[in-house]
Amino acid sequence: MTQTIGILTSGGDSPGLNAAIRGVGKACHAHYGMRLIGIRDGFRGLVENRVMELEGEPLSGILTLGGTILGTSRDKPHKMPVDGRLVDMTETIVANYHANRLDCLVCLGGGGTQKNALRLKQAGLNVVTLPKTIDNDVAMTDITFGFDTALGIATDAIDRLHSTAHSHHRIIVVEIMGHRAGWLALGAGVAGGADVILIPEIPYDVETVADAIKARKAKGKPFSIVAVAEGALTRQEHAARLASAAKKKDRKPKDVAEPELVYAERTLRLAHQLEKLTGLEARVTILGHLQRGGAPSAADRILATRLGTAAADLIARREYGVMVAADGEDTRPVPLEDVAGQVKIVPVEHAWVASARRVGTSFGD
Ligand code: F6P
Repeated sequence: MTQTIGILTSGGDSPGLNAAIRGVGKACHAHYGMRLIGIRDGFRGLVENRVMELEGEPLSGILTLGGTILGTSRDKPHKMPVDGRLVDMTETIVANYHANRLDCLVCLGGGGTQKNALRLKQAGLNVVTLPKTIDNDVAMTDITFGFDTALGIATDAIDRLHSTAHSHHRIIVVEIMGHRAGWLALGAGVAGGADVILIPEIPYDVETVADAIKARKAKGKPFSIVAVAEGALTRQEHAARLASAAKKKDRKPKDVAEPELVYAERTLRLAHQLEKLTGLEARVTILGHLQRGGAPSAADRILATRLGTAAADLIARREYGVMVAADGEDTRPVPLEDVAGQVKIVPVEHAWVASARRVGTSFGD
């Protein structure tokens, strides 16, 4: 019997989403002859039963487009904002899945989406997921699509910042996305030759960062590029976060945790401290959502197409409940139970870290 497939994109958008939609869609529909339905704006669209026709024309010409033609949202099935309250809408999602006669729901998303997909699997739905995020922090896959494009954008930004930092003898602190993982800042920092790279996995000491910058100045290089991951923490902040996580278990509902500074506040504070400690002028560049915008790189188009078509092969074999992971040149299905709730952070001994240290990059530790 012909299968009917629903497809949605959830979480922050990421270059390569349209390439993946096209890969899943063309393989499912044109190759396997399945029916295909697009669901708008992530899990919210399934709650509100907002669907779009995806067969044929809508899949044409989208390979190179940034964003997602389906729209996306960060709404979770079990915590959906409804009239100012968070409501568990899983039952509605299950009902609409059946109302659309779906045989499988394909969810394209990052770590949060993997968890939400597992919940829907546990609610009895057939689900297959693909790993997308510029953060590259989804577990059990070599890489996520979106990362390569964002890496290129952040590297290009560092290249451009070099000439202005050099001309003005300044420190430029460039904040790079990544949530609580340092892949993007590390990769762009290495590729762009940043003098200092600060990532969440290696808590830093601002005095050590300042010493590295002063040492460069003493060698006749009175400018420095500091690539800071948005989630990077000082040693004190890291210790405070660990202590707060340990206390969380015992916390009574009315206890309020000490508020943390938001990303940009920490980056501005770092630049200010470095100015004071080094005597050099500092400027801040926050790359922000520029890193997620625009056309996907060739590598992301290929990866998204590989993962998308592999998802169709699995669905054709009725292998559900898995994420399609990149595994070298190949792909492999990983049970959602093994992915959900895991975060792939940078190992502190990772080869990129070791190489950066060899060429004299400071991690502020
Ligand atoms: O997960 C992707 C990401 O771009 C993170 O790097 C960043 O912290 C977050 O999304 C930003 O989210 P939003 O688009 O909701 O501001």
